[in-house]
Amino acid sequence: TRVLVLNGPNLGRLGVREPEVYGHATLADLRSACEEWAAALGLEADVRQTDDESEIVAWLHEAVDTRTDAVLNPAAFTHYSYALRDAAAQVTDVGLRLVEVHISNPYAREAFRHLSVVGPVATGTIAGFGLDSYRLALSALAGA
Ligand code: DQA
Repeated sequence: TRVLVLNGPNLGRLGVREPEVYGHATLADLRSACEEWAAALGLEADVRQTDDESEIVAWLHEAVDTRTDAVLNPAAFTHYSYALRDAAAQVTDVGLRLVEVHISNPYAREAFRHLSVVGPVATGTIAGFGLDSYRLALSALAGA
C-alpha cells in the first residue's frame, strides 16, 4: 500500500537548519528512513517536500483522488494556512487517514507554534520524537 509522506516549507533544509531543534539528519536521510520503515511495515512511502503552499495543497487533492493515506508535516503552514487545513479536511472527509507529524514538540516552543490549524482535521498528531515521529505515524497507518 502506497502512502504519501508530505513535507512543507524549510524541511528541505533539514541537517543545516537549527540542528539543535531538528537534528543533523537531512531530507535525504528522512526519505531513506521513511522508505525503510514503510517497507518493513508492508507500505510504500512516497516522500515529498515543497516550500510551495499550492504544491502541497495539490498533493493533498491527489491523496483524495488516488485514495491514499498520508503523513503530513505542514511545517510553518501548520500554524496559519487555512488553505492547507481545507485540503487536509478533504482527505479525512472521504475516510482516508492523515497523520500530522512534527519533528520538534511545537507546544514546548514559541507561542505562535501552539496553534495547529491542521490538527482538528487530522486523524491524529505525533510530535516531538524527532524523525521517529514519522516512524510512529507510518506504524499508525500500517496498524502496527
Ligand atoms: C515543524 C514545527 C513547525 O513549527 C516549524 O515551522 C517547522 C517544523 C516540526 O517538524 O517540528 O518548520 O513542523
